[in-house]
Amino acid sequence: MAVALGTRILRSNAVAALTTPHGVDRYLKHINPMWAAHEVRARIVDIHHEVDLPGEPRVATVTLQPTSTWAGHRAGQHVSVGVEVDGTRRTTRVFSVSSADSKPGERFTITVRANPDRVPSVSSFLAYEAKPGQMVHLSQAEGDFVLPDRVPERIVLISGGSGITPLMSMLRSLQRRTHRGQVTFLHYARSEDHQIFREELAGIAGNGVDIHLLHPEAGDPNLSPAYLTKLLGEYSEIPTWACGPAPLMEAVKAAYADSEALSTEYFQPPKSTGVAGGQISYARTGTESANSGETVLEQAEAAGLTPEFGCRMGICFSCTATKKSGLVRNVLTGETSELPDEDIRICVSAPEGDCVIDL
Ligand code: FES
Repeated sequence: MAVALGTRILRSNAVAALTTPHGVDRYLKHINPMWAAHEVRARIVDIHHEVDLPGEPRVATVTLQPTSTWAGHRAGQHVSVGVEVDGTRRTTRVFSVSSADSKPGERFTITVRANPDRVPSVSSFLAYEAKPGQMVHLSQAEGDFVLPDRVPERIVLISGGSGITPLMSMLRSLQRRTHRGQVTFLHYARSEDHQIFREELAGIAGNGVDIHLLHPEAGDPNLSPAYLTKLLGEYSEIPTWACGPAPLMEAVKAAYADSEALSTEYFQPPKSTGVAGGQISYARTGTESANSGETVLEQAEAAGLTPEFGCRMGICFSCTATKKSGLVRNVLTGETSELPDEDIRICVSAPEGDCVIDL
């Protein structure tokens, strides 16, 4: 009761007026970083190495204690995590929550694979450098890749690599909700040693949860209609959630055709399917380069620009920029658009022909 009253006072217009122009959160965090009226922050409570193989990017599960402003999450949702990687500039990256549904202010986990191509990066910071006690910035949980409130009797969860994290959150939530139906959990990893959550999954198997951990490099079958039929029968009518890298997701989409039973989330964006040719011009900086067919973000970086970005997967909108003219293809959906003065997410937009971007 006292906490709720305090929060109401801190969020009041009178307090906002007194703390203008910086807002109350700017002052509160200097008194206690876990105090917030509007912002969401979290203290790192624990870091557990899930996969740590020599010469391979580490995978770590980070437990976060959020401020009381955290509104909770539904299994399958993602959150933007911001850290001051070089001490001053905040860099954000989107991660799926890997723990079961959380309530407001409740602890949760994210499971991150360090990004070897991008150093420093938020994921490398969390996997290699972060320590319990450090603070990170958070968004509220977002995304509609979630289980419905009434979970169907029979469901299928398909994942590949780090795409297992939102589905692990769903599986953990189902365990907590004591779902009595039949769950088939299908996960693709490079090898047993690369398998995240291996021991926990072994402990969950049984009692209506059918777990298949597949390692195609060791001879296990790739995902195909024939394999799904053998395993599940009329699979395309069973509600299915799938998340993984682009090649797996393309195979899942092809297998389910246009079935409405399928919900998908890309864990890595597909490589651009834009068409090379023409010129890409950056209006604000006066830079130009030949259009290679890659996404605008990749091409802008190759041209020496440093546009803002977060997830690089079309999720967080932090890379949004105005396309002044030209045609772009959304590399996730294949849709094209040639409206002038249109806001586009440059991480998933690849130009076809000449294009002018306000960067
Ligand atoms: S960087 Fe997140 S949508 Fe582009």
